[in-house]
Amino acid sequence: MRLDRFLTRKTQQSNKQVRQQVDAGEVLVDGVVVVEWSTPITRFSEVVMAGERLQENTAEYWVLHKPVGVVSDTKHPHHKTVLDCLEVPNKQQLHVAGRLDLNTSGLVLLTNNGAWSKAITQASSQLEKVYEVTLDKPIPEQAEAVFEQGIYFGYEDITTLPARLERLGLTAARLTLTEGRYHQVKRMFGHLGLRVLSLHRSRIGNLVLSDELPCGSYRRLSNQEADTLLSS
Ligand code: URA
Repeated sequence: MRLDRFLTRKTQQSNKQVRQQVDAGEVLVDGVVVVEWSTPITRFSEVVMAGERLQENTAEYWVLHKPVGVVSDTKHPHHKTVLDCLEVPNKQQLHVAGRLDLNTSGLVLLTNNGAWSKAITQASSQLEKVYEVTLDKPIPEQAEAVFEQGIYFGYEDITTLPARLERLGLTAARLTLTEGRYHQVKRMFGHLGLRVLSLHRSRIGNLVLSDELPCGSYRRLSNQEADTLLSS
């Protein structure tokens, strides 16, 4: 909704009156003075007019270190879910922004802000996702070139975006992707005839899964961290 409409609804003042307040620099959206009447306001915008808070920002962002054996879903008939890992109020309003497979561990984001999770996961965001992988056989010589060039996925009829492979050993590597296709890492190594034995996501954008967040634990991201993650 536009700012001026939001303000008239909230305050019962006329459109002219609220526009005057905006012009006078009396209105802050998410802590910043705004002078455009048409500024978009969502249910997650904090709006303050003349020192009075008209709406709070109720957006929540969480980062979880997902253990193997936990599903990236909010409900499941047989498995523990990422929501079961969180002991926080209102967790039923959260959803996952970018899934990991059941047998993958690592960084998972949860939020109640659909626009944010969409921006995180959409292909055009090109946010880096970093995975540590162990494989059943030595990584072949041509792997870097093949991943850099892209691999054709017939099911989606796409070619994967250039990906960066860093060798950590004969059968271990770090892979950096800028997209998140279904089982992408497993399919990429499968293309080279290798099977993924373990998979761990260690980073999304500028957000690194540090030792301070052991497996199974979680922490809330500040709104600022959530914003900067999007632009990282
Ligand atoms: N790629 C995979 O194959 N699995 C994951 O869980 C994440 C990326």
